Amino acid sequence: MSFRQLVGALTVIVGGMLWSCAPPQPGYAPGYRGGMVTSADSLATQAGLDILKKGGNAFDAAVTVGFVLAVTHPQAGNIGGGGFALIYVVDSSKVYALDFRETAPHRASRDMYLDNDGEAIDQLSTKGFLASGTPGTVAGLLEILNCFGSLPRTEIMQPAIDLAESGFIVDSALAARFANYAESFAQFASTRKYFLQDGQPFTGGDTLIQADLARVLKLIAEKGKAGFYSGETAGRLATEMSKHGGLIDEFNLASYQAVWREPIQFDYSRLTIYSISPPSSGGVIMGEIFGILANFEISGRQPTDPWYIHLLTESCRLAYADRSVYLGDPDFAYNPTELLLSQDYLYTRSRQIDTTQALPSIRVGAGLEVKESESTTHYCVIDSAGNIVSLTYTINSNFGCKQVVNGLGFFMNNEMDDFSIKPGMPNQFGLIGGEANAIAPGKRMLSSMSPTIVFYNDRPTMIVGTPGGSKIITSVTATILNFFGFGMSLDSAINLPHYHHQWLPDKLYYEKGAFDTTQIRVLTDMGHNLQQRSDYGDLQVIVIQPDGSYVGASDRRGNGYAAGY
Ligand code: DON
Repeated sequence: MSFRQLVGALTVIVGGMLWSCAPPQPGYAPGYRGGMVTSADSLATQAGLDILKKGGNAFDAAVTVGFVLAVTHPQAGNIGGGGFALIYVVDSSKVYALDFRETAPHRASRDMYLDNDGEAIDQLSTKGFLASGTPGTVAGLLEILNCFGSLPRTEIMQPAIDLAESGFIVDSALAARFANYAESFAQFASTRKYFLQDGQPFTGGDTLIQADLARVLKLIAEKGKAGFYSGETAGRLATEMSKHGGLIDEFNLASYQAVWREPIQFDYSRLTIYSISPPSSGGVIMGEIFGILANFEISGRQPTDPWYIHLLTESCRLAYADRSVYLGDPDFAYNPTELLLSQDYLYTRSRQIDTTQALPSIRVGAGLEVKESESTTHYCVIDSAGNIVSLTYTINSNFGCKQVVNGLGFFMNNEMDDFSIKPGMPNQFGLIGGEANAIAPGKRMLSSMSPTIVFYNDRPTMIVGTPGGSKIITSVTATILNFFGFGMSLDSAINLPHYHHQWLPDKLYYEKGAFDTTQIRVLTDMGHNLQQRSDYGDLQVIVIQPDGSYVGASDRRGNGYAAGY
Protein backbone atom coordinates (compact mmCIF):
# COMPACT_ATOMS: atom_id res chain seq x y z
CA MET A 1 0.00 0.00 0.00
CA SER A 2 1.39 3.42 -0.90
CA PHE A 3 1.67 6.28 1.56
CA ARG A 4 -1.08 8.10 -0.30
CA GLN A 5 -3.43 5.13 -0.01
CA LEU A 6 -2.58 4.48 3.59
CA VAL A 7 -2.87 8.04 4.81
CA GLY A 8 -5.86 8.49 2.56
CA ALA A 9 -7.56 5.82 4.61
CA LEU A 10 -6.65 7.64 7.80
CA THR A 11 -9.47 8.82 10.02
CA VAL A 12 -8.67 10.90 13.05
CA ILE A 13 -10.92 10.75 16.09
CA VAL A 14 -11.51 14.20 17.51
CA GLY A 15 -13.36 14.39 20.78
CA GLY A 16 -14.84 11.00 20.07
CA MET A 17 -15.90 12.00 16.56
CA LEU A 18 -14.40 10.77 13.34
CA TRP A 19 -12.44 13.31 11.34
CA SER A 20 -12.03 11.87 7.87
CA CYS A 21 -8.99 12.94 5.95
CA ALA A 22 -8.59 13.63 2.29
CA PRO A 23 -5.66 11.72 0.81
CA PRO A 24 -2.45 13.75 1.08
CA GLN A 25 0.31 13.76 -1.49
CA PRO A 26 3.38 11.84 -0.43
CA GLY A 27 5.60 14.96 -0.35
CA TYR A 28 7.64 16.43 -3.13
CA ALA A 29 10.97 14.73 -2.48
CA PRO A 30 11.41 11.07 -3.36
CA GLY A 31 11.49 8.70 -0.39
CA TYR A 32 14.96 8.06 1.05
CA ARG A 33 16.11 5.23 3.26
CA GLY A 34 19.73 6.00 4.09
CA GLY A 35 18.98 9.14 6.07
CA MET A 36 17.70 12.67 5.72
CA VAL A 37 18.46 16.16 6.97
CA THR A 38 16.40 19.36 6.69
CA SER A 39 17.86 22.62 7.90
CA ALA A 40 17.76 26.34 7.21
CA ASP A 41 21.03 26.23 5.26
CA SER A 42 22.21 24.03 2.40
CA LEU A 43 25.83 23.79 3.61
CA ALA A 44 24.65 22.56 7.00
CA THR A 45 22.24 20.05 5.48
CA GLN A 46 24.99 18.77 3.19
CA ALA A 47 27.48 18.45 6.05
CA GLY A 48 24.98 16.45 8.10
CA LEU A 49 24.20 14.21 5.16
CA ASP A 50 27.91 13.57 4.56
CA ILE A 51 28.27 12.39 8.17
CA LEU A 52 25.33 10.01 7.71
CA LYS A 53 26.85 8.69 4.51
CA LYS A 54 30.13 8.07 6.32
CA GLY A 55 28.29 5.79 8.72
CA GLY A 56 27.54 8.31 11.44
CA ASN A 57 24.16 8.09 13.13
CA ALA A 58 21.49 10.80 13.43
CA PHE A 59 23.08 12.07 16.65
CA ASP A 60 26.49 12.50 15.04
CA ALA A 61 24.94 14.28 12.07
CA ALA A 62 22.81 16.55 14.28
CA VAL A 63 25.90 17.73 16.13
CA THR A 64 27.67 18.45 12.86
CA VAL A 65 24.67 20.41 11.57
CA GLY A 66 24.53 22.43 14.80
CA PHE A 67 28.19 23.44 14.61
CA VAL A 68 28.05 24.17 10.86
CA LEU A 69 25.01 26.43 11.28
CA ALA A 70 27.05 28.35 13.86
CA VAL A 71 29.39 29.22 10.98
CA THR A 72 27.16 29.52 7.92
CA HIS A 73 23.91 30.81 9.46
CA PRO A 74 25.18 33.39 11.97
CA GLN A 75 21.81 35.12 12.37
CA ALA A 76 20.57 32.15 14.41
CA GLY A 77 23.02 29.24 14.25
CA ASN A 78 25.28 29.63 17.22
CA ILE A 79 27.67 28.67 19.92
CA GLY A 80 26.69 31.81 21.84
CA GLY A 81 23.07 30.78 22.49
CA GLY A 82 20.99 27.82 23.55
CA GLY A 83 18.10 25.56 22.65
CA PHE A 84 16.27 22.28 23.00
CA ALA A 85 16.55 18.89 21.33
CA LEU A 86 14.02 16.11 21.14
CA ILE A 87 15.61 12.77 20.43
CA TYR A 88 14.15 9.40 19.49
CA VAL A 89 16.43 6.43 20.09
CA VAL A 90 15.43 3.32 18.20
CA ASP A 91 17.25 0.92 20.55
CA SER A 92 15.22 1.98 23.57
CA SER A 93 12.12 3.13 21.62
CA LYS A 94 12.23 6.21 23.85
CA VAL A 95 11.93 9.94 23.32
CA TYR A 96 14.33 12.12 25.32
CA ALA A 97 14.30 15.90 25.74
CA LEU A 98 17.51 17.85 26.21
CA ASP A 99 17.38 21.37 27.63
CA PHE A 100 20.42 23.46 26.78
CA ARG A 101 18.69 26.78 27.35
CA GLU A 102 20.82 29.71 28.51
CA THR A 103 20.86 30.60 32.21
CA ALA A 104 20.78 34.00 33.87
CA PRO A 105 24.26 34.92 35.15
CA HIS A 106 24.63 34.61 38.93
CA ARG A 107 24.92 38.40 39.24
CA ALA A 108 21.61 38.89 37.39
CA SER A 109 18.75 40.29 39.42
CA ARG A 110 15.03 40.61 39.08
CA ASP A 111 14.90 44.32 38.26
CA MET A 112 18.14 44.64 36.37
CA TYR A 113 16.52 46.09 33.26
CA LEU A 114 14.34 48.66 35.08
CA ASP A 115 15.06 52.29 35.87
CA ASN A 116 14.41 53.93 39.23
CA ASP A 117 10.78 54.42 38.29
CA GLY A 118 10.39 50.73 37.57
CA GLU A 119 10.20 51.24 33.81
CA ALA A 120 12.07 48.97 31.39
CA ILE A 121 15.12 50.74 29.96
CA ASP A 122 15.02 50.72 26.19
CA GLN A 123 17.16 48.01 24.53
CA LEU A 124 18.98 47.05 27.74
CA SER A 125 17.67 43.48 27.55
CA THR A 126 18.11 43.21 23.79
CA LYS A 127 21.36 44.91 22.75
CA GLY A 128 24.90 44.36 23.96
CA PHE A 129 26.34 41.84 26.42
CA LEU A 130 24.07 42.70 29.36
CA ALA A 131 21.29 41.01 27.34
CA SER A 132 23.15 37.68 27.24
CA GLY A 133 22.51 34.55 29.24
CA THR A 134 25.20 31.91 29.79
CA PRO A 135 25.30 29.97 26.51
CA GLY A 136 24.20 26.34 26.48
CA THR A 137 24.64 25.26 22.86
CA VAL A 138 28.13 23.76 23.13
CA ALA A 139 27.16 21.78 26.25
CA GLY A 140 23.96 20.61 24.56
CA LEU A 141 25.53 19.48 21.30
CA LEU A 142 28.37 17.69 23.11
CA GLU A 143 25.91 16.02 25.48
CA ILE A 144 24.06 14.55 22.48
CA LEU A 145 27.36 13.34 21.05
CA ASN A 146 28.61 11.87 24.34
CA CYS A 147 25.38 10.05 25.10
CA PHE A 148 24.38 8.78 21.68
CA GLY A 149 27.01 9.60 19.05
CA SER A 150 29.33 7.10 17.41
CA LEU A 151 32.04 9.11 15.63
CA PRO A 152 34.96 11.02 17.22
CA ARG A 153 34.31 14.65 18.12
CA THR A 154 37.13 15.85 15.88
CA GLU A 155 35.53 14.22 12.85
CA ILE A 156 32.10 15.59 13.75
CA MET A 157 33.39 19.14 14.07
CA GLN A 158 35.76 19.20 11.08
CA PRO A 159 33.17 20.45 8.55
CA ALA A 160 32.38 23.48 10.74
CA ILE A 161 36.08 24.17 11.34
CA ASP A 162 36.81 23.97 7.59
CA LEU A 163 33.95 26.31 6.70
CA ALA A 164 35.05 28.84 9.31
CA GLU A 165 38.73 28.63 8.41
CA SER A 166 38.53 28.53 4.61
CA GLY A 167 35.33 30.53 4.41
CA PHE A 168 32.15 30.09 2.46
CA ILE A 169 30.42 32.15 -0.18
CA VAL A 170 27.78 34.48 1.20
CA ASP A 171 24.54 33.88 -0.69
CA SER A 172 21.94 36.52 -1.49
CA ALA A 173 19.69 35.61 1.46
CA LEU A 174 22.50 35.99 4.01
CA ALA A 175 23.72 39.14 2.28
CA ALA A 176 20.23 40.62 2.67
CA ARG A 177 20.27 39.84 6.40
CA PHE A 178 23.69 41.44 6.75
CA ALA A 179 22.48 44.53 4.92
CA ASN A 180 19.41 44.81 7.19
CA TYR A 181 21.53 44.74 10.31
CA ALA A 182 24.54 46.73 9.11
CA GLU A 183 23.56 49.72 11.23
CA SER A 184 23.39 47.64 14.42
CA PHE A 185 26.68 45.94 13.55
CA ALA A 186 28.32 49.34 13.24
CA GLN A 187 27.50 50.14 16.88
CA PHE A 188 29.94 47.55 18.24
CA ALA A 189 33.66 47.63 17.45
CA SER A 190 33.95 43.84 17.57
CA THR A 191 30.97 43.31 15.26
CA ARG A 192 32.36 45.88 12.83
CA LYS A 193 35.64 44.01 12.84
CA TYR A 194 34.13 40.62 11.98
CA PHE A 195 30.96 41.37 10.04
CA LEU A 196 31.60 44.59 8.13
CA GLN A 197 34.31 45.25 5.53
CA ASP A 198 35.40 48.88 5.48
CA GLY A 199 32.12 49.66 7.21
CA GLN A 200 30.04 47.88 4.57
CA PRO A 201 28.15 44.59 4.92
CA PHE A 202 29.30 41.48 3.06
CA THR A 203 27.42 41.08 -0.19
CA GLY A 204 26.38 38.04 -2.21
CA GLY A 205 29.42 36.27 -3.66
CA ASP A 206 31.83 37.50 -0.97
CA THR A 207 33.77 34.89 0.98
CA LEU A 208 33.24 35.03 4.75
CA ILE A 209 36.27 33.72 6.63
CA GLN A 210 35.97 33.39 10.43
CA ALA A 211 39.45 32.52 11.67
CA ASP A 212 38.82 33.28 15.36
CA LEU A 213 35.64 31.24 15.36
CA ALA A 214 37.58 28.39 13.72
CA ARG A 215 40.09 28.52 16.57
CA VAL A 216 37.31 28.26 19.18
CA LEU A 217 35.76 25.35 17.30
CA LYS A 218 39.15 23.61 17.21
CA LEU A 219 39.52 24.05 20.96
CA ILE A 220 36.09 22.47 21.45
CA ALA A 221 37.00 19.63 19.07
CA GLU A 222 40.21 18.96 21.01
CA LYS A 223 39.05 19.47 24.58
CA GLY A 224 35.29 18.98 24.51
CA LYS A 225 33.26 21.07 26.94
CA ALA A 226 36.46 22.39 28.52
CA GLY A 227 37.36 23.99 25.19
CA PHE A 228 34.48 26.40 25.66
CA TYR A 229 33.43 26.52 29.30
CA SER A 230 36.91 26.82 30.80
CA GLY A 231 40.45 27.73 29.79
CA GLU A 232 41.23 30.19 27.04
CA THR A 233 37.71 30.57 25.57
CA ALA A 234 35.97 31.05 28.91
CA GLY A 235 38.68 33.44 30.08
CA ARG A 236 38.36 35.57 26.99
CA LEU A 237 34.58 35.53 27.05
CA ALA A 238 34.52 36.60 30.71
CA THR A 239 37.06 39.38 30.09
CA GLU A 240 35.11 40.76 27.14
CA MET A 241 31.90 40.58 29.16
CA SER A 242 33.32 42.60 32.03
CA LYS A 243 34.86 45.14 29.63
CA HIS A 244 31.51 45.77 27.94
CA GLY A 245 28.93 45.59 30.71
CA GLY A 246 28.01 41.90 30.51
CA LEU A 247 27.56 39.72 33.61
CA ILE A 248 28.71 36.28 32.45
CA ASP A 249 31.89 35.24 34.26
CA GLU A 250 34.09 32.14 34.41
CA PHE A 251 32.07 30.73 37.28
CA ASN A 252 28.86 30.88 35.20
CA LEU A 253 30.57 29.19 32.31
CA ALA A 254 32.23 26.46 34.39
CA SER A 255 28.96 25.60 36.11
CA TYR A 256 26.74 25.46 33.01
CA GLN A 257 25.00 22.08 32.55
CA ALA A 258 22.60 20.84 29.87
CA VAL A 259 19.68 19.02 31.52
CA TRP A 260 17.72 15.95 30.39
CA ARG A 261 14.02 16.44 31.04
CA GLU A 262 10.85 14.43 30.55
CA PRO A 263 9.32 15.48 27.24
CA ILE A 264 5.71 16.63 27.13
CA GLN A 265 3.58 13.88 25.64
CA PHE A 266 -0.08 14.07 24.72
CA ASP A 267 -2.51 12.18 22.52
CA TYR A 268 -4.78 13.60 19.89
CA SER A 269 -6.79 10.84 18.33
CA ARG A 270 -4.28 8.44 16.75
CA LEU A 271 -1.46 10.89 17.15
CA THR A 272 0.92 10.92 20.08
CA ILE A 273 2.76 14.21 20.08
CA TYR A 274 6.06 14.72 21.90
CA SER A 275 7.49 18.16 22.45
CA ILE A 276 9.53 20.17 24.93
CA SER A 277 8.63 20.66 28.59
CA PRO A 278 9.37 23.81 30.63
CA PRO A 279 11.48 25.90 30.51
CA SER A 280 9.97 25.84 27.04
CA SER A 281 6.26 26.51 26.94
CA GLY A 282 6.06 24.78 23.55
CA GLY A 283 4.86 21.31 24.58
CA VAL A 284 2.39 22.48 27.25
CA ILE A 285 0.79 25.18 25.12
CA MET A 286 0.58 22.91 22.09
CA GLY A 287 -0.97 20.23 24.31
CA GLU A 288 -3.53 22.74 25.56
CA ILE A 289 -4.44 23.88 22.05
CA PHE A 290 -4.94 20.30 20.84
CA GLY A 291 -6.75 19.38 24.06
CA ILE A 292 -9.21 22.28 23.76
CA LEU A 293 -9.80 21.55 20.05
CA ALA A 294 -10.52 17.91 20.87
CA ASN A 295 -13.78 19.00 22.48
CA PHE A 296 -15.22 20.11 19.14
CA GLU A 297 -16.49 18.24 16.13
CA ILE A 298 -14.23 19.24 13.26
CA SER A 299 -15.25 16.47 10.91
CA GLY A 300 -16.25 17.73 7.48
CA ARG A 301 -14.75 21.19 8.00
CA GLN A 302 -12.13 22.72 5.75
CA PRO A 303 -9.01 24.56 6.99
CA THR A 304 -10.34 27.67 5.21
CA ASP A 305 -13.69 27.55 7.01
CA PRO A 306 -14.04 30.67 9.24
CA TRP A 307 -15.68 28.51 11.90
CA TYR A 308 -12.50 26.39 12.14
CA ILE A 309 -10.18 29.42 11.95
CA HIS A 310 -12.18 30.98 14.79
CA LEU A 311 -12.07 27.78 16.84
CA LEU A 312 -8.32 27.34 16.46
CA THR A 313 -7.82 31.03 17.23
CA GLU A 314 -9.90 30.84 20.40
CA SER A 315 -8.07 27.67 21.50
CA CYS A 316 -4.76 29.52 21.04
CA ARG A 317 -6.06 32.57 22.92
CA LEU A 318 -7.02 30.44 25.91
CA ALA A 319 -3.83 28.38 25.90
CA TYR A 320 -1.50 31.39 25.57
CA ALA A 321 -3.32 33.12 28.44
CA ASP A 322 -1.93 30.38 30.68
CA ARG A 323 1.58 30.67 29.31
CA SER A 324 2.86 33.73 31.06
CA VAL A 325 1.08 33.13 34.31
CA TYR A 326 1.90 29.51 34.98
CA LEU A 327 5.11 28.62 33.18
CA GLY A 328 8.76 29.22 33.94
CA ASP A 329 11.96 27.33 34.70
CA PRO A 330 10.75 24.22 36.61
CA ASP A 331 13.87 24.31 38.80
CA PHE A 332 12.67 27.66 40.17
CA ALA A 333 8.89 27.80 39.77
CA TYR A 334 6.10 25.26 40.10
CA ASN A 335 4.61 24.53 36.68
CA PRO A 336 1.12 22.96 36.94
CA THR A 337 1.75 20.96 33.76
CA GLU A 338 -0.43 17.98 34.61
CA LEU A 339 -3.34 20.18 35.53
CA LEU A 340 -3.01 22.31 32.41
CA LEU A 341 -3.03 19.18 30.25
CA SER A 342 -5.77 17.33 32.11
CA GLN A 343 -8.93 16.52 30.17
CA ASP A 344 -11.12 18.14 32.82
CA TYR A 345 -9.26 21.43 32.70
CA LEU A 346 -9.20 21.47 28.90
CA TYR A 347 -12.89 20.64 28.75
CA THR A 348 -13.60 23.56 31.11
CA ARG A 349 -11.40 25.81 28.99
CA SER A 350 -13.22 24.70 25.82
CA ARG A 351 -16.57 25.70 27.36
CA GLN A 352 -15.33 29.29 27.45
CA ILE A 353 -15.37 29.35 23.67
CA ASP A 354 -18.35 30.87 21.92
CA THR A 355 -18.30 29.39 18.43
CA THR A 356 -19.87 32.53 17.00
CA GLN A 357 -18.03 35.31 18.82
CA ALA A 358 -14.43 36.12 19.69
CA LEU A 359 -13.79 36.29 23.42
CA PRO A 360 -12.05 39.57 24.32
CA SER A 361 -8.66 38.63 25.78
CA ILE A 362 -9.24 40.95 28.72
CA ARG A 363 -11.91 38.50 29.88
CA VAL A 364 -9.67 35.46 29.58
CA GLY A 365 -6.95 35.60 32.20
CA ALA A 366 -3.98 37.43 33.64
CA GLY A 367 -0.40 37.80 32.53
CA LEU A 368 2.10 39.74 30.55
CA GLU A 369 2.26 40.10 26.82
CA VAL A 370 4.42 37.48 25.14
CA LYS A 371 7.06 39.34 23.21
CA GLU A 372 8.12 38.46 19.71
CA SER A 373 11.59 38.20 18.38
CA GLU A 374 12.98 37.42 15.00
CA SER A 375 15.48 34.66 14.62
CA THR A 376 15.99 31.07 15.61
CA THR A 377 16.58 27.94 13.56
CA HIS A 378 15.28 24.40 13.52
CA TYR A 379 16.64 21.24 11.92
CA CYS A 380 15.64 17.59 11.64
CA VAL A 381 17.83 14.52 11.17
CA ILE A 382 16.95 10.85 10.72
CA ASP A 383 19.31 7.97 9.99
CA SER A 384 18.77 4.61 8.28
CA ALA A 385 17.92 2.92 11.59
CA GLY A 386 15.22 5.49 12.33
CA ASN A 387 17.02 7.42 15.08
CA ILE A 388 15.76 11.00 15.16
CA VAL A 389 16.91 14.43 16.26
CA SER A 390 14.49 17.39 16.19
CA LEU A 391 16.44 20.42 17.37
CA THR A 392 15.70 24.15 17.69
CA TYR A 393 18.32 26.59 18.91
CA THR A 394 18.69 30.33 18.94
CA ILE A 395 20.45 33.49 19.97
CA ASN A 396 16.93 35.00 20.19
CA SER A 397 16.93 38.01 17.84
CA ASN A 398 18.67 38.00 14.48
CA PHE A 399 22.39 38.04 15.35
CA GLY A 400 21.44 37.93 19.05
CA CYS A 401 22.58 40.95 21.04
CA LYS A 402 24.44 42.15 17.90
CA GLN A 403 27.73 42.14 19.77
CA VAL A 404 30.45 39.68 18.76
CA VAL A 405 32.97 38.49 21.34
CA ASN A 406 36.25 40.07 20.34
CA GLY A 407 38.93 37.42 19.84
CA LEU A 408 36.36 34.61 19.62
CA GLY A 409 34.34 35.79 16.62
CA PHE A 410 30.80 34.73 17.53
CA PHE A 411 27.60 36.62 18.37
CA MET A 412 26.23 36.39 21.88
CA ASN A 413 22.55 35.83 22.52
CA ASN A 414 20.04 38.36 23.89
CA GLU A 415 17.99 35.66 25.57
CA MET A 416 17.61 37.58 28.86
CA ASP A 417 14.82 39.42 27.06
CA ASP A 418 12.73 36.22 27.23
CA PHE A 419 12.38 36.68 30.99
CA SER A 420 9.51 38.79 32.28
CA ILE A 421 11.37 42.03 32.57
CA LYS A 422 8.63 43.56 34.74
CA PRO A 423 7.01 40.63 36.59
CA GLY A 424 4.25 41.52 38.98
CA MET A 425 3.56 44.83 37.31
CA PRO A 426 0.22 45.49 35.66
CA ASN A 427 0.22 45.07 31.92
CA GLN A 428 -1.65 47.27 29.48
CA PHE A 429 -5.00 45.83 30.67
CA GLY A 430 -4.18 46.26 34.35
CA LEU A 431 -3.65 42.52 34.81
CA ILE A 432 -0.86 40.89 36.80
CA GLY A 433 1.38 37.98 35.91
CA GLY A 434 4.73 36.64 34.86
CA GLU A 435 6.06 35.79 38.33
CA ALA A 436 7.05 32.25 37.29
CA ASN A 437 9.34 33.77 34.66
CA ALA A 438 10.96 36.48 36.79
CA ILE A 439 14.73 36.88 36.51
CA ALA A 440 16.80 34.98 39.10
CA PRO A 441 20.47 33.93 39.11
CA GLY A 442 21.02 30.62 37.33
CA LYS A 443 17.43 30.48 36.10
CA ARG A 444 16.42 29.58 32.54
CA MET A 445 14.13 32.03 30.74
CA LEU A 446 10.81 30.76 29.37
CA SER A 447 10.92 29.75 25.72
CA SER A 448 8.48 28.91 22.95
CA MET A 449 10.84 26.63 21.06
CA SER A 450 9.02 23.45 20.10
CA PRO A 451 11.09 20.76 18.42
CA THR A 452 8.45 18.08 18.00
CA ILE A 453 8.06 14.44 16.98
CA VAL A 454 4.62 13.14 16.03
CA PHE A 455 3.79 9.46 16.28
CA TYR A 456 0.89 8.16 14.22
CA ASN A 457 -0.50 4.84 15.42
CA ASP A 458 2.53 4.58 17.75
CA ARG A 459 5.03 4.93 14.92
CA PRO A 460 7.30 7.99 14.54
CA THR A 461 5.84 9.79 11.52
CA MET A 462 6.69 13.48 11.54
CA ILE A 463 9.70 15.49 12.77
CA VAL A 464 8.91 19.20 12.85
CA GLY A 465 10.00 22.58 14.18
CA THR A 466 10.48 26.22 13.22
CA PRO A 467 11.71 29.61 14.38
CA GLY A 468 9.16 32.37 14.98
CA GLY A 469 9.29 33.33 18.66
CA SER A 470 5.85 33.08 20.21
CA LYS A 471 4.52 32.03 16.80
CA ILE A 472 6.54 28.80 16.84
CA ILE A 473 3.83 26.97 18.74
CA THR A 474 0.97 27.94 16.42
CA SER A 475 3.06 27.23 13.31
CA VAL A 476 3.95 23.71 14.46
CA THR A 477 0.35 23.08 15.57
CA ALA A 478 -1.03 24.20 12.19
CA THR A 479 1.45 22.02 10.31
CA ILE A 480 0.39 18.93 12.25
CA LEU A 481 -3.32 19.72 11.79
CA ASN A 482 -2.91 20.53 8.10
CA PHE A 483 -1.04 17.31 7.36
CA PHE A 484 -2.72 14.76 9.57
CA GLY A 485 -6.13 16.36 10.02
CA PHE A 486 -6.84 17.88 6.62
CA GLY A 487 -4.70 15.46 4.65
CA MET A 488 -2.67 18.14 2.90
CA SER A 489 0.55 17.31 1.09
CA LEU A 490 3.65 18.03 3.14
CA ASP A 491 4.59 21.12 1.18
CA SER A 492 1.04 22.50 1.27
CA ALA A 493 0.87 21.80 5.00
CA ILE A 494 3.92 23.92 5.74
CA ASN A 495 3.49 26.56 3.06
CA LEU A 496 -0.14 27.42 3.77
CA PRO A 497 -0.17 31.06 4.95
CA HIS A 498 -0.10 31.25 8.74
CA TYR A 499 -2.34 32.98 11.21
CA HIS A 500 -1.66 33.45 14.90
CA HIS A 501 -3.27 34.56 18.15
CA GLN A 502 -1.35 34.70 21.41
CA TRP A 503 -3.96 36.17 23.77
CA LEU A 504 -2.17 39.51 24.17
CA PRO A 505 -2.07 41.66 22.22
CA ASP A 506 -5.67 40.81 21.33
CA LYS A 507 -4.98 40.52 17.61
CA LEU A 508 -5.42 37.84 15.01
CA TYR A 509 -2.24 38.19 12.95
CA TYR A 510 -2.22 36.71 9.47
CA GLU A 511 0.18 36.37 6.59
CA LYS A 512 -0.70 37.69 3.14
CA GLY A 513 -3.01 35.20 1.45
CA ALA A 514 -4.16 33.52 4.66
CA PHE A 515 -7.68 34.95 4.38
CA ASP A 516 -9.79 36.14 1.48
CA THR A 517 -12.21 39.07 1.73
CA THR A 518 -15.12 36.87 2.82
CA GLN A 519 -13.09 35.25 5.59
CA ILE A 520 -11.87 38.66 6.72
CA ARG A 521 -15.43 39.97 6.86
CA VAL A 522 -16.79 36.93 8.74
CA LEU A 523 -13.92 36.91 11.24
CA THR A 524 -14.19 40.66 11.78
CA ASP A 525 -17.93 40.32 12.34
CA MET A 526 -17.17 37.65 14.94
CA GLY A 527 -15.16 40.26 16.83
CA HIS A 528 -11.62 39.37 15.78
CA ASN A 529 -9.15 42.20 15.51
CA LEU A 530 -7.31 41.22 12.32
CA GLN A 531 -3.86 42.46 11.43
CA GLN A 532 -1.85 41.42 8.40
CA ARG A 533 1.87 41.03 8.98
CA SER A 534 4.97 39.87 7.14
CA ASP A 535 5.64 36.17 6.69
CA TYR A 536 7.29 34.42 9.60
CA GLY A 537 8.94 31.11 10.42
CA ASP A 538 11.08 28.62 8.57
CA LEU A 539 9.55 25.19 9.10
CA GLN A 540 11.76 22.16 8.64
CA VAL A 541 9.98 18.83 8.45
CA ILE A 542 10.69 15.16 7.76
CA VAL A 543 7.92 12.60 7.33
CA ILE A 544 8.53 8.89 7.69
CA GLN A 545 6.26 7.19 5.19
CA PRO A 546 4.46 3.95 5.95
CA ASP A 547 6.94 2.05 3.78
CA GLY A 548 9.72 3.33 6.04
CA SER A 549 11.19 5.81 3.56
CA TYR A 550 11.72 9.48 4.30
CA VAL A 551 10.47 12.66 2.65
CA GLY A 552 11.34 16.14 3.84
CA ALA A 553 10.44 19.73 3.18
CA SER A 554 11.86 23.11 3.94
CA ASP A 555 9.68 26.19 4.25
CA ARG A 556 9.11 28.47 1.22
CA ARG A 557 9.61 31.36 3.65
CA GLY A 558 13.26 30.53 4.22
CA ASN A 559 16.30 29.46 2.29
CA GLY A 560 16.61 25.95 3.69
CA TYR A 561 17.35 22.61 2.11
CA ALA A 562 15.93 19.14 2.60
CA ALA A 563 18.14 16.32 1.38
CA GLY A 564 18.41 12.59 1.80
CA TYR A 565 20.00 9.57 0.21
O1 DON B 1 13.06 30.90 23.13
C1 DON B 1 12.24 31.55 22.50
O2 DON B 1 11.06 31.29 22.48
C2 DON B 1 12.73 32.71 21.66
N1 DON B 1 13.99 33.18 22.16
C3 DON B 1 12.82 32.24 20.26
C4 DON B 1 13.13 33.35 19.33
C5 DON B 1 12.75 33.04 17.96
O3 DON B 1 12.19 32.04 17.63
C6 DON B 1 13.00 34.07 16.98
N2 DON B 1 12.81 33.54 15.65
N3 DON B 1 12.20 33.78 14.75
